[in-house]
Amino acid sequence: MNFPLDHSPHAQRRQRLLASLEEDAAVVLPAAHLVTHHADVHHRFRQDSDFFYLCGLDEANAVAVLRGQGSGGAQDPRFVLFVEPRDPMAEVWNGRRWGVEGAMEHFGAEAAHPIGELAEHLDGYLHGARRIGFRVGRHPHVEPLVLRVWAQQLERSQRQGGHTASLFDVSAAIHAMRLRKEPGELERMREAARISCGAHEQARQVAQAGMGEYQIEALLEGHFRNAGARQPAYPSIVAGGDNACILHYTSNQDPLRDGELLLIDAGCSLVDYYNADITRTFPVNGRFSGEQRALYELVLTAQRQAIAAVQPGSSSARVHNAAVAVLVDGLLELGLLQGDRDAIITNHDYRHLYPHRTGHWLGLDVHDVGASRLGDHHTALEPGMVLTVEPGLYISNRLPIPEGQPEIPHHWQGIGIRIEDDVAVTATGHEVLTAAALKELQEMER
Ligand code: GLY
Ligand code: MN
Ligand code: MN
Repeated sequence: MNFPLDHSPHAQRRQRLLASLEEDAAVVLPAAHLVTHHADVHHRFRQDSDFFYLCGLDEANAVAVLRGQGSGGAQDPRFVLFVEPRDPMAEVWNGRRWGVEGAMEHFGAEAAHPIGELAEHLDGYLHGARRIGFRVGRHPHVEPLVLRVWAQQLERSQRQGGHTASLFDVSAAIHAMRLRKEPGELERMREAARISCGAHEQARQVAQAGMGEYQIEALLEGHFRNAGARQPAYPSIVAGGDNACILHYTSNQDPLRDGELLLIDAGCSLVDYYNADITRTFPVNGRFSGEQRALYELVLTAQRQAIAAVQPGSSSARVHNAAVAVLVDGLLELGLLQGDRDAIITNHDYRHLYPHRTGHWLGLDVHDVGASRLGDHHTALEPGMVLTVEPGLYISNRLPIPEGQPEIPHHWQGIGIRIEDDVAVTATGHEVLTAAALKELQEMER
């Protein structure tokens, strides 16, 4: 991103993070690196979400060091950025950089250095810290340096006495913050939802037999870019007929066929990475068949019940269980399951038809961070949390049928349906951020 954001939210988050840690802690937070697409070509840059959340800087290879009150002298900088320095030739090839001066002027760094000097300065910046927060296993470029500095400190303390620093995983504290969205973040998610709903509405209006799934993909993604979004939040799924039974179908190469359903799972990512994640399913020719209609009504009812369970104090497990209960009852009625309802639920004997969970957290990552449970304790939903609610049914012969369950008659096969909305928990219940994408049965027909 070539414009600086208002960095006050990022500064507040850094303060809140440090306040949640012990005073003598320091944090080392690496940015993302470019990822090879092929040969010497890179994928478009995608910033590390933790780094972006706390620094707002959208450049590769940077490293931030945050220091608590008690991790050094009173005059020592609390926020240090190591960045790619300005370099006319590199910028001609690959784009503008903020450089060391920009890091201080626009992103609030109290000190900044070229990234090439990280090895030289890191020891000094971590010297007074008793606890070093770093996510091990994720940052192969930076981890050896952090471990070396830590080893040097251990060595020193053994020889000279003094404290021994410990290394801790800081991501749990960052992710607990990211799980609860600020009002400004919710505003950005409403914007991602608004653009993505518009794309779904347009796609349904133009889809018809004979078009290619890829043409719908082009339309959705053109809509995102036209509206100023950065890119699709994830590879768009445009799945006609039986392709919809492949949960992560992304080839999008087949023609749309008369009589089949079209499942579209697509959402945009804004320039500051906030995402939407929406699925809608509708008949290509504008009319549901009897089987399609029965299953669509069932999934829609399951989704309504699951959304109703999004309340403060509830949990994503309750949301999931609400969907499963409706789906199992409906499938028993339709003869696609048989036997004792509670036993089917307990033994997961519906999983050949509904193999995934009903949702996930949503935010800067599409499958956003934050624990959904700690051991047996399910995370209680709180205002500001955002989750998807996305039950579905996938009637195909791909998965083995559990013992005691019926074979699937041919006329049911090849129907895949998912309905997915993004739902924020509010003080009194919930807000469906994606309500502008229609989903009533009659609205899916024409
Ligand atoms: N689009 C990815 C998901 O629904 O989780
Ligand atoms: Mn989802
Ligand atoms: Mn989705």
